[in-house]
Amino acid sequence: MSTKTNQSWGGRFNEPTDEFVKIFGASVFFDKILAPYDIQGSIAHATMLQEVGLLTKNEKDQIISGLNKILLEIEAGEFKWSVALEDVHMNVESRLTEICGDAGKKLHTGRSRNDQVATDIRLYLRDQVDGILSEIKRLQNSLLDLAEKEASTILPGFTHLQAAQPVSFGHHMMAYFEMLTRDAERLIDCRKRINSMPLGSAALAGTTYPINRERTAELLGFDRICLNSLDGVSDRDFAIEFLSASSIIMMHLSRFSEELIMWSSAQFDFIELPDSFCTGSSIMPQKKNPDVPELVRGKTGRVYGNLASMLTIMKSQPLAYNKDNQEDKEPLFDTVDTLKACLRVFADMVPTIEAKRDNMYNSTKKGYTTATDLADYLVNKGLPFRDAHEVVGKSVSYGIEHQKDLSELSLEELQVFDDRIENDVFDILSLEGSLEARDHLGATSSNQVKKAIKTARESLK
Ligand code: ARG
Repeated sequence: MSTKTNQSWGGRFNEPTDEFVKIFGASVFFDKILAPYDIQGSIAHATMLQEVGLLTKNEKDQIISGLNKILLEIEAGEFKWSVALEDVHMNVESRLTEICGDAGKKLHTGRSRNDQVATDIRLYLRDQVDGILSEIKRLQNSLLDLAEKEASTILPGFTHLQAAQPVSFGHHMMAYFEMLTRDAERLIDCRKRINSMPLGSAALAGTTYPINRERTAELLGFDRICLNSLDGVSDRDFAIEFLSASSIIMMHLSRFSEELIMWSSAQFDFIELPDSFCTGSSIMPQKKNPDVPELVRGKTGRVYGNLASMLTIMKSQPLAYNKDNQEDKEPLFDTVDTLKACLRVFADMVPTIEAKRDNMYNSTKKGYTTATDLADYLVNKGLPFRDAHEVVGKSVSYGIEHQKDLSELSLEELQVFDDRIENDVFDILSLEGSLEARDHLGATSSNQVKKAIKTARESLK
């Protein structure tokens, strides 16, 4: 073989690769983080090759101890990565051959980089999903603690960002708990399809060697094997699903961020975020900026972008493997890193959120948030709902004119609008009365919020 050409595939080449094309085509800059998974996959592959008689015991032992040595070299930062060797797979294999000679050259029997890389990404992603699931759980626990502390705290619930009805701050936090529960379910479901093994698909058509794919899958903890070799090497649906699930998680975190940002403004002034999660301004000395939620809201864009990248990378690719697929890694790695960081910072920040209870309460008093309660009261006294709606609308208009909340109107003033109104109306016109009256499964009374927290804690066990 010419020394000028690539040692892994240079046989049929007469000219060396263009210097810039080498760099352009290389993925080692980013795919080296797959090394532990690449080595895990190779150890299982070598074990299976020996069991079916394609390697001697001695060769297999040399390969495995060589691979373990390489892993230690990588972890110690001593491994010499070479761009000329293109990717993580050829870097590891080349070093293995340096360490154990011909045995190293036999490792690639019955396998291609196409099924190898597809296997590596799945091993990587399976691991990452497990880590992400535990971060989600940590955030959910933080939300439960905050919700428990604030189950009876009243803030205005909004629709159209107009004050609508009093709700419990704990209930509001529990809404995010629910979203995260669905997020975790989506990841668990996606993990099922991640955990399928392409190895043995070889380049695209399978291999002529008597390999035992079930055995390799068992060694690697895969639940099943990809059943079509063409699909096995070229399927990236699992990565797209992961990116979709991640985009939805980021969308939820972004909505939460938006609320935290609004609530910590002087205009809302519902919460205080600690100094340790905020920054100042170099020009305006009075500022305390909610950088953490702002960044999370901003990073949502990158994750959406990564989903769009991956869908577009896969669109129009004919079967089976194409070099386009090398582009799958950066969006995937970036999403994993971004998502993990955002979940981590939220799980750390949520317990530090201080509810400014008086401000929330006083703000809830401003928007006639118990108007629906007055309508319901009149319905209970026999008025049809539409008529009750009309009566209450008139009393709200009167309240606005005289700058009084409904609960601040006198009985005489209220009776002008309907003489069925009696003294007991003030029980339901109070914010507490309104909140506690919504006392069924899924509603906002403090009693129901506490029940929901209890059920939620059970579900996390
Ligand atoms: N670095 C490649 C990738 O990430 C590995 C597979 C290359 N296969 C090939 N036949 N060129 O997709």
